[in-house]
Amino acid sequence: MLEEQTLRSDSAIRGGMAESKVAIVTGASSGIGLAVAKRWTERGGRVALVARSRDKLEAAALELGPERAVAFPLDVVDLDALTALPGRVADLFGRLDVVVNNAGLNHRGPVDRFEPAELAAVVTTNLVAPIVLTRAALPRLTRGGSVVQLASIAGMVPVPGEAAYSASKAGLRAFARAVGYDVEERGIHVGCVCPGPVDTGFLGDLEEVPDIVLSQPMITADEVALAVLQCIDERLEEIALPARSGRLATMAYLAPSFARKIRPVLEKRGARNKAALLAARRRAVS
Ligand SMILES: NC(=O)c1ccc[n+]([C@@H]2O[C@H](COP(=O)([O-])OP(=O)(O)OC[C@H]3O[C@@H](n4cnc5c(N)ncnc54)[C@H](OP(=O)(O)O)[C@@H]3O)[C@@H](O)[C@H]2O)c1
Repeated sequence: MLEEQTLRSDSAIRGGMAESKVAIVTGASSGIGLAVAKRWTERGGRVALVARSRDKLEAAALELGPERAVAFPLDVVDLDALTALPGRVADLFGRLDVVVNNAGLNHRGPVDRFEPAELAAVVTTNLVAPIVLTRAALPRLTRGGSVVQLASIAGMVPVPGEAAYSASKAGLRAFARAVGYDVEERGIHVGCVCPGPVDTGFLGDLEEVPDIVLSQPMITADEVALAVLQCIDERLEEIALPARSGRLATMAYLAPSFARKIRPVLEKRGARNKAALLAARRRAVS
């Protein structure tokens, strides 16, 4: 049992490694969050692993080392639990240096396919929760600390079929930039990482992924994790990856007529890529 209560007595958590930095990573039970936690602990940091799946978090904590990683199972839409989290983590580890707001939710398809509450859950998970956790962490973060928000290329240019998701990630980018200005004099850095498609379970059924999303090369969770660490180390405001997608998305956002013109070209390319990915998946299971 690797939960906070059972490890509270473990002096290694507080004592022996008091100098090593402490990060909260939400969405750490799989994909990008787990990859960030791995990279962070490999470089000597300690980590509070946050997600809903207790079993997966406990398995991850075991793998990363119980003296370095502790499971904090919670649902980020429970805003009271989220508000209390930085205090619990700082009390257990003795400090708090970094927050990575990475837990995310997407419902793909036209908005009227979903109940209003389902769309609200996308915004609560992807935007409200990071705002609340960032705010709650501020008094606890060490000077020189960082908050990294996991946004998306879909937050740089709106993606048809992902309207609520695009809105939440665009809002997250805006929040990151604005709050970054607010807290920079206190020595706190706030940055944003905006990936294109990443090879994790988040993509779900590839048939449902809009073709335009797959017009970009697929990247790995570990590549995104390295970008998160770079964002922290170099105190960057934003990293888009692939960088070319970020540039194209910015141009398309600034010029809606250009966006309409290139959309069919990108959709065609994405459809080809999707067919190839589906064929590769079929081969892998047969
Ligand atoms: N994969 C992509 O193509 C892609 C592209 C751009 C941006 N992103 C962003 O990257 C982030 C991570 O995605 P991923 O690709 O690593 O997906 P993933 O492998 O599905 O991981 C999502 C993580 O979020 C956690 N989570 C979801 N809802 C939660 C909630 N309400 N409370 C607590 N934890 C919750 C999940 O754990 P539990 O289910 O155990 O709670 C899981 O650990 C997301 O914010 C996503 O929007 C992903």
